[in-house]
Amino acid sequence: MRTIGVIGAGQMGTGIAQTVAQHGLNVLLSDVDLSHAEAGKAGIEKAVTKLVGRGKMEADAAEALLSRITPVAEYSPMSDAHLIIEAATEKEPIKQGIFENVGKVLSDDAIMASNTSSIPITRMANHSPDPERFIGLHFFNPVPVMGLIEVIPGLATSQATTDTVTAFAEGLGKQVVLSQDEPGFVVNRILLPMINEAVFVLGQSTAGIEDIDKGCRLGLNHPMGPLQLADFVGLDTCLDIIKVLYKTTRDSKYRPAPLLVKYVEAGWLGRKTGRGFYDYSGEAPVPTR
Ligand code: 3HC
Repeated sequence: MRTIGVIGAGQMGTGIAQTVAQHGLNVLLSDVDLSHAEAGKAGIEKAVTKLVGRGKMEADAAEALLSRITPVAEYSPMSDAHLIIEAATEKEPIKQGIFENVGKVLSDDAIMASNTSSIPITRMANHSPDPERFIGLHFFNPVPVMGLIEVIPGLATSQATTDTVTAFAEGLGKQVVLSQDEPGFVVNRILLPMINEAVFVLGQSTAGIEDIDKGCRLGLNHPMGPLQLADFVGLDTCLDIIKVLYKTTRDSKYRPAPLLVKYVEAGWLGRKTGRGFYDYSGEAPVPTR
């Protein structure tokens, strides 16, 4: 594989693009328009400049990495891609539209993958030109740092596709967990109920934001507490995932915490909007309750 298409230049798409380019592959990065794709590349430049400043990356390596990422205005250049990874917003109709459109340029032996956090792969594969060459490839945030990728074959995915993307993921220096195509796969099936429960604990005033997070950091040795992690992932994304778990299983244990719904309705989506369970306007995050 030499060229990878990445669709979606948000938090996950840019993390994927940075990691792929760091491993010597060319990336075609697209979003709703060229300016969003360019803004995504600018964010990657900021991240790698920081790494150079901290002595974690050579300036030459950063320059080479950036030269391998090309923002594109449309999907047609992706006809050269060996693998196209969709990392757009976690809304099924948007993803379906992408698979249908990019499917028109997908070359005959290329693979299409989705970085979905929870939407069934088998169902989305039906919107791609060849379900045998469609697979879930679930990265974790921040992508350049996290050591795991979940690989999720759908019902129709061929073994050759699974083997190819597993080798690709391992080539990025990540370890792979293979999951069946069940709601939330492995990690989010466990993580999202924990985050949702933390919001119930907050909503019932069992403890405040700081103590809930401190409890999990010190009591469970998690690097971040669940509310800080929810802000980091994005409260809208957390809500989207827990809703998918609830809808697809109809199990009431996945019902979204009312306070999570309220925060999303208020537009308090976490770090990306400057406010979630914490306020990020100052130097250090401050709990909001
Ligand atoms: N590129 C490359 N390296 C980066 C980077 C980037 N964009 N951002 C951070 N790093 C590196 C830093 O250079 C640093 O390296 P060092 O250890 O060699 O110094 C390291 O990552 C840690 O960064 P910081 O020192 O800035 O920050 P912390 O020590 O506070 O760690 C954290 C930050 C890695 C985010 C840590 O808090 C953590 O692991 N949090 C939990 C993250 C997590 O659970 N992610 C999964 C979320 S769920 C998900 O993604 C699934 C989705 O579907 C919802």
